[in-house]
Amino acid sequence: MPIPQAELHLHIEGTLEPELAFALAARNGLVLPYADADELRAAYRFEDLQSFLDLYYELMAVLLTQDDFADLADAYFERAASQGVRHAEIFFDPQAHLARGVSMETVVGGLWRALETSEERYGVSAQLIMCFLRDESPESAMATLEAARPHLGKIVGIGLDSAEVGNPPGRFAQVYAAAAKLGLRRVAHAGEEGPPEYITSALDDLGAERIDHGLRCLEDPTLVARLVRDQVPLTLCPLSNVRLRAVQSLEQHPLRRMLEAGLMCTVNSDDPAYFGGYIDDNLEQSRSALDLSDDQVRELARNSFRASFLEHDEEMRARYLAQVEAYVFTSVSGRP
Ligand code: ADE
Ligand code: ZN
Repeated sequence: MPIPQAELHLHIEGTLEPELAFALAARNGLVLPYADADELRAAYRFEDLQSFLDLYYELMAVLLTQDDFADLADAYFERAASQGVRHAEIFFDPQAHLARGVSMETVVGGLWRALETSEERYGVSAQLIMCFLRDESPESAMATLEAARPHLGKIVGIGLDSAEVGNPPGRFAQVYAAAAKLGLRRVAHAGEEGPPEYITSALDDLGAERIDHGLRCLEDPTLVARLVRDQVPLTLCPLSNVRLRAVQSLEQHPLRRMLEAGLMCTVNSDDPAYFGGYIDDNLEQSRSALDLSDDQVRELARNSFRASFLEHDEEMRARYLAQVEAYVFTSVSGRP
């Protein structure tokens, strides 16, 4: 039985498994340029973030209706539940859909249909975080925030994703300030491929409350000291980092060093359909590759709930944290 966790770094479009992509394509009368799911899966070899993003955006073509978005989220919840996820804060990329003529209403309405009852059906509570594409303009981000206004009751926060290098956070200071005024929580990808300065800028210029990835903070000891002091959550995604070659192998992933340095780390799955594993796969493979102790694994799970945006429901956070404390490590999970 996997340890209970909150998933804080998960792109819903990145949960599109090849089989579902083919099913949705058939339902929508589209033909994918791959013979079958196996051939598509074989294309999941990436050199870097951009080579992944190219395929990630291409496959979104199959997501057209509310049913498509609801089915995508349901498929995720089913897998998440089996991986110990109790709470999920789910990213979505509206600009990638609006650009294809799919409305905000379709995207948010479809996802919400699944989220609304995910706790009853799968035992996974969930919230939505709307991401801006940093390789699009700040004006486009602001227009997206405007388009989301009628749906803000369904969205807990904003994020920043897509191609990082050359697209520093500071460009989006205005839209983050506007979102903060609307009461939205703020996170941002930074330090995945981009330099440590992007992490500092995400904190200072965007008011980011969590940093997604944050891996490259290790190059700047002053920044590390700040992140430790302020216990800024870093939502790490070890399998993603290996697949996108941010690190050479899981054995060389800095997760353990980061924990030992006192950083507030969590383990997440990013785009699990593309990177070979969901949240517990990330945790178990990291545990084994880095020889993490049971205490470190429990700390990661605890951190995930502490860093979650469950402010309006402290009772729920306490209940989840109690589940983490009560978890008993067994040999079934691979431990001696
Ligand atoms: N969009 C989806 N996955 C992403 C990642 N790992 N980094 C940046 N943008 C993304
Ligand atoms: Zn991500």
